[in-house]
Amino acid sequence: MKDDVTRDERVANLKGMGCSRKRVEDARFTQGKGNYVDDIKLDGMLFGDFVRSPYAHARIKNIDASAAMEVPGVLAVLTAADLEPLGLHWMPTLAGDKQMVLADGKVLFQGQEVAFVVAEDRYAAADGIEAVVVEYEELPVIVDPFEALKTDVVLREDTVQDGKPVDGAHGPRKHHNHIFTWEAGDKDPTEEVIANADVVAEETMYYHRTHPCPLETCGCVASMDKVNGKLTLWGTFQAPHAIRTVVSLISGIEEHNIRVISPDIGGGFGNKVGAYPGYVCSVVASIVTAKPVKWIEDRMDNLMTTAFARDYWMKGRISATKEGKITGLHCHVTADHGGFDACADPTKFPAGFMNICTGSYDIPTAFLEVDGVYTNKAPGGVSYRCSFRVTEAVYFIERMIEVLAIELNMDAAELRRINFIKKEQFPYTAALGWEYDSGDYHTAWDKALKTVDYEGLRAEQARRVEDFKAGKTRKLMGIGLSFFTEIVGAGPVKNCDILGLGMFDSCEIRIHPTGSAIARLGTISQGQGHATTFAQILASEIGLPADSITIEEGDTDTAPYGLGTYGSRSTPVAGAATAMAGRKIRAKAQMIAAYLLEVHDDDVEFDVDRFVVKGAPEKFKTMKDIAFAAYNQAIPGIEPGLEAVSYYDPPNMTYPFGAYVCVMDIDVDTGVPDIRRFYALDDCGTRINPMIIEGQVHGGLTEALAVALGQEIAYDDMGNVKTGTLMDFFLPTAWEVPNYETDYTVTPSPHHPIGAKGVGESPHVGGVPCFSNAVQDAFRAFGNRHTNMPHDHWRIWRTANALGLHD
Ligand code: CDP
Repeated sequence: MKDDVTRDERVANLKGMGCSRKRVEDARFTQGKGNYVDDIKLDGMLFGDFVRSPYAHARIKNIDASAAMEVPGVLAVLTAADLEPLGLHWMPTLAGDKQMVLADGKVLFQGQEVAFVVAEDRYAAADGIEAVVVEYEELPVIVDPFEALKTDVVLREDTVQDGKPVDGAHGPRKHHNHIFTWEAGDKDPTEEVIANADVVAEETMYYHRTHPCPLETCGCVASMDKVNGKLTLWGTFQAPHAIRTVVSLISGIEEHNIRVISPDIGGGFGNKVGAYPGYVCSVVASIVTAKPVKWIEDRMDNLMTTAFARDYWMKGRISATKEGKITGLHCHVTADHGGFDACADPTKFPAGFMNICTGSYDIPTAFLEVDGVYTNKAPGGVSYRCSFRVTEAVYFIERMIEVLAIELNMDAAELRRINFIKKEQFPYTAALGWEYDSGDYHTAWDKALKTVDYEGLRAEQARRVEDFKAGKTRKLMGIGLSFFTEIVGAGPVKNCDILGLGMFDSCEIRIHPTGSAIARLGTISQGQGHATTFAQILASEIGLPADSITIEEGDTDTAPYGLGTYGSRSTPVAGAATAMAGRKIRAKAQMIAAYLLEVHDDDVEFDVDRFVVKGAPEKFKTMKDIAFAAYNQAIPGIEPGLEAVSYYDPPNMTYPFGAYVCVMDIDVDTGVPDIRRFYALDDCGTRINPMIIEGQVHGGLTEALAVALGQEIAYDDMGNVKTGTLMDFFLPTAWEVPNYETDYTVTPSPHHPIGAKGVGESPHVGGVPCFSNAVQDAFRAFGNRHTNMPHDHWRIWRTANALGLHD
């Protein structure tokens, strides 16, 4: 390095934390050089696909595969009867339930996997599927969770013994179709506070069933090498190590003989966390045929059968003083889990972190009760771009605040302000148990309201109502507000495990002699840009340029064990592991530098990219010098090499927050909303890469718009999926998406080594209630209190109609 390089130039050269470093991944993605699972082509590779049930609830009387075996190219047809002797006809779900890999005597939802056809290519497999004859006997279909809790119809035979419900994975059942009850908070004190309150607002809301719908569907390639007994499994896995452990446990193949590789992944959003029958069947088919087997879903398979999100019926009561100080909150949830309980939640939290439903508010007393229920719908219950059930929780409280504001005849922004947890109350222990690490809600709220000129907007809205009443316009104006607190970064291990696997994460760093490095993590990017940002954390921690650091994830043969990427946990957990491993490197580098500079260890200090002798900055060794010396110079008492590993068990989760405002015009005659403005202020603590954060916010808001304004997995009474294609399932395009304005405050996490909180999912969590509140607020002056999402044009039109606005 030139001698005349300034300190600022040295900092800039690192491209460390705080810099909008361009995404290193994009060179391959923009040139079509990504390597997704369907790009993997192996010699002699076969293709597997499913015969799926057309019925939502039926007994299987017979499966005849003889004609299918005659189809040219078809090599095998697997059924439950073939898997049962191997003990592979069922698999544990992430929630500890028993999910059939191939339906064993009965189907529980439309699209359920009945048989697996293995063929020489996809086309032959499709022909084989057509030729398999399955004889079904239809059974009564239950798609309504409330009906499921009343009916005599038993959906799952394993829930009943001697005519009585048996205990499930999460305790006693109230009914044969009931899965669990989960409670948090204080029931009696909450009832007492609500009974004696000045004002109580009540509302029931349905957070509809939707789906993460990643652009790339789920899939895998299984390759069993019988010569050396090694199974390699490439797939769209958000948690490759967890998949390896689960595959080992259910197949009996020792874990060191399984290599799981997540190549590039085209979006996950929770959909690719769990294990699917396709993975098990591909592995079995590869073992049976001794050839690699690929399974890739099509869009309908993905929407109809892989993990859904939400489907929560939430009933709330919120109490307050006349002045608007909230005193208590009660929430009851009826959670529709479909045919198997395959929710992706830490074991101790069968309703995820729904107990963050007191939101950003200082609510002294609260009680939450969740009942999980089986129905004839697809299994799932994953956190679609949010931490476990946090979107449901934030939607609930942000709607309850709006309803309370109506009850109090008060401005909803002011109601929020007077109830926010104050800056000096952090760390704050909420009534339902969580300890919020840090926050400064009033500053964020004031900044947001000032930026959008909130008072001006309300005045304009009032004029619009007058004009509407006077017949001068047919458009109403809605101002959507939301203030959210996310809870991201699961562990700690003492609280959080999935199937007994503790939720820590990891980073292993190897510095090469010439001063470049490779770092491997237990997480896996699905578009979030980890290769860019984790190198930035390291650049700042170890003083080598980010451009000289390769980040690798997703190969269990090389990466240290970790629990993967979902619930915005990468930065809070693996990001912390990265910083901690970097600090171990730095500690050893300090000793080497002191030796080279012939001073005591304490007499050198780290400065950007070097260690300098204290008080004599002209005497220094750069990290590059130190890396070379670490390998090539015999240093007394110090082992050669410069490597470190950190397994990080976070002491707490991180609590990012944000303040969002949406301004919307609604045409009451067509029901079409026009999003005029969307302002999003996010606080994710220390910001690693502002450009990537902005991209994450744009993406999260767009998925929030989708969910709030149209996206839905809808069923008819027969259990038919009505929205199983992208013709019916709303995916927003540039046409619907507004120009987002982003902003931020910075409130570092006090326990995270670099003060960073997660951000990837915050905009979704805050965005859904903000869009929904804008729609509902447009109709507030005409008596609207609450309408359920999704607010598609038809439903908005119906709201206007029900309020008499078409008369
Ligand atoms: O777990 P996931 O990667 O989905 O979410 P995340 O930890 O919130 O990170 C999403 C992306 O935003 C990553 O590339 C992070 O490094 C980046 N990020 C950031 O630059 N600064 C933060 N404070 C948080 C995340």
